[in-house]
Amino acid sequence: MILAIESSCDDSSVALLKGHRLIGLKQSGQEEHQRFGGVVPELASRAHQEWLSLMIKDLIHDTSTSWSDVQAIAYTQGPGLMGSLMVGSAVAKGLALTLDIPLIGVNHLHGHLVSHFVEHEPEGIFPMLSLTVSGGHTHLVWMESWLEGSMLCETLDDAAGEAFDKCAKMLGLPYPGGPVLDRLAREGNPGAYAWPLPQLGNEAYSFSGLKTSVLYYLAKQKPDLEDRQDSALRDLCASIQSTVVEVLMRPVVHHAGLRKPRSLGLAGGVAANSLLRSRFLALGEHLGCQVHIPPMSWCTDNAAMIAASARILLEHGKISGEAMGQKPLPRWPLMEYLGELSVLNLGLQGGS
Ligand code: KG4
Ligand code: ZN
Repeated sequence: MILAIESSCDDSSVALLKGHRLIGLKQSGQEEHQRFGGVVPELASRAHQEWLSLMIKDLIHDTSTSWSDVQAIAYTQGPGLMGSLMVGSAVAKGLALTLDIPLIGVNHLHGHLVSHFVEHEPEGIFPMLSLTVSGGHTHLVWMESWLEGSMLCETLDDAAGEAFDKCAKMLGLPYPGGPVLDRLAREGNPGAYAWPLPQLGNEAYSFSGLKTSVLYYLAKQKPDLEDRQDSALRDLCASIQSTVVEVLMRPVVHHAGLRKPRSLGLAGGVAANSLLRSRFLALGEHLGCQVHIPPMSWCTDNAAMIAASARILLEHGKISGEAMGQKPLPRWPLMEYLGELSVLNLGLQGGS
């Protein structure tokens, strides 16, 4: 049984995973960031400090788990906000030391990648073409197995979620703007505005051009927009959303056609986007391959995916560095992490 802690950004989350059964999961979003229009790192770490240990106490109590049943502590070692990571790391180290059980540092991006596989690992998923899209990351990877892969396409500037949030903010929508923009887009015309698409081929994403175009357009048109508010706002949302999704999908369609994966994966907060989900499902049907998209609640940051990533490490006898000496890593590229995994020697008895 693995107890996992996620605290990379502004979501505090703890989970208990026994093999492939999620015994319990507690989540606590931090609403105090809303009035600042973005995550305030100092407030995020303070909230983790306040909530994490209480959540762990409740998790153990509510699932009637005995501490002696917990066999390993997993936590998000990076990437993320330094202060937030430090709080999760301190709690995890303290627990592992006191309970005298293994400590497993998990890469948050690998957590997202496996977030659809917390409770089941279907046969025949590899090679998998997997897109991770969140507020801080946007990349398309080719996974040969759970722990081996290569980077196909990465963002040069903003992440897709950041593009959604920044455009939504310019439109006067509340933070985080991605879900609100998605909702308004459903009643808008995606063809009402033509935003420029970056001409970067299929090896790089970019979203800063879109952000600038929306900014310049609004600076000129805002009074006009205020007059025609509702429908113009919905059209703007629909056209921005369809542009972001088009930019995301082009390399996916290209590499899927070229490499013929056995499955497609979509993960991260932006995987909750309705248009992106439907484009992925349609592509999977067209190619005749499996499509793995986590349920909505597991798209955003959660400890269940951190527990699943730790289980995969244990199953493959791999670990990232000497446990108690681990440092939080605010910047920790996925491929660097996979390349540096070393053979595990945790002294664990039997399976979980
Ligand atoms: O993975 P996540 O919870 O946190 C990070 O690790 O960044 O992703 C949060 C991001 C935010 O930018 C949020 O606006 C975006 O995911 N998001 C969406 C939707 N739901 C969440 N973006 C577009 N459409 C959505 N439905
Ligand atoms: Zn995330």
